[in-house]
Amino acid sequence: MKNFYQRLARPLLFSFDAETAHHLTVGWLRTASHFNLALRALKSFQPPSKPKTVFGLKFPNPIGLAAGLDKNGVALPAWAALGFGFIEIGTVTAKPQPGNPRPRIFRLPAQQALINRLGFNNDGADAIADRLRKLHNSGRWPAVPVGINIGKSRATPLEQAKDDYLYSFRLLREFADYITLNVSSPNTPGLRELQEPKKLSDLLQAIGKEAGATPKPVVVKISPDILPTDLKAILAVCEEHRLAGIIATNTTLDHTSIPPQLDQAGGLSGAPLQEKSTASVREIAGRSTIPVIASGGICDAASAREKFQAGAQLIQLYTGFVYRGPGLLREIMAAM
Ligand SMILES: Cc1cc2nc3c(=O)[nH]c(=O)nc-3n(C[C@H](O)[C@H](O)[C@H](O)COP(=O)(O)O)c2cc1C
Repeated sequence: MKNFYQRLARPLLFSFDAETAHHLTVGWLRTASHFNLALRALKSFQPPSKPKTVFGLKFPNPIGLAAGLDKNGVALPAWAALGFGFIEIGTVTAKPQPGNPRPRIFRLPAQQALINRLGFNNDGADAIADRLRKLHNSGRWPAVPVGINIGKSRATPLEQAKDDYLYSFRLLREFADYITLNVSSPNTPGLRELQEPKKLSDLLQAIGKEAGATPKPVVVKISPDILPTDLKAILAVCEEHRLAGIIATNTTLDHTSIPPQLDQAGGLSGAPLQEKSTASVREIAGRSTIPVIASGGICDAASAREKFQAGAQLIQLYTGFVYRGPGLLREIMAAM
């Protein structure tokens, strides 16, 4: 698979702009999701399983697909066939929205990085709930945990954010093994303010009240740009509300490692984020017993090991997967 992806698929994909390549990939995987033969072919590249139980869910391996790659939940069977131990779809917002004007994803190959300012382009909670219901009824639902990442619609004022999250939560929770509250994407104005302890507490309380008879694990995805003192306060809120987990981290607004001529507005991901996001993982794992899902700059076996050594229970891939393809899963699993 390494040879196939790095010799053939990646050069072909990288001959297109980053967003076109993204749509082509997700489109192929969406089509493959309908055909058993195609899924079987993808499965032949799967890494061996290494089951792990975290917040009550059984993961066949600890490597997940990070939010943003399949925002609309169109290719769940294919991601599972490729060997991901869990899949996080979204970010889903209550209202469908087009996101920011293109171009809005930029490759920085020399830095093994991406910059994006997509702005939560997605089909909206209603359409995505319909799609997930159909998949469920079709019998093709994947045999790995599925997380649904929800965020605030751009048109909803920050003061009404809670209602927006609640709307998506009510529609989508029946399909989710866990729900992620995304309060850390840098491309929706004001969103990161929801990390302020009082605002976060209000949001967690509102979601907690909705939990119902069979509560689903709720996790929060945080930014790598939080100051250590603020992180302490956030952790206290998460513990008070008995959060199931924390995803550390989203993309960063710290572009100091990027040459000015390559820089773009947006969230930076990939290798330049690795150290910062590992520092967040280490800080959280050192201060709290809440399980940590690490995301940020995992591009090879060494950077994956670094996250586990810092205290992560699970990891998620985005930018590393774009540069390395499915071979990255095998490489990480072989080194574990
Ligand atoms: C193009 C792109 C789109 C993303 N979209 C989302 C998103 O919708 N929701 C979210 O929580 N994170 C999103 N992310 C962040 C990733 O899930 C991940 O947390 C981040 O990129 C750090 O991991 P990485 O260095 O492995 O890419 C996106 C990242 C990229 C590069």
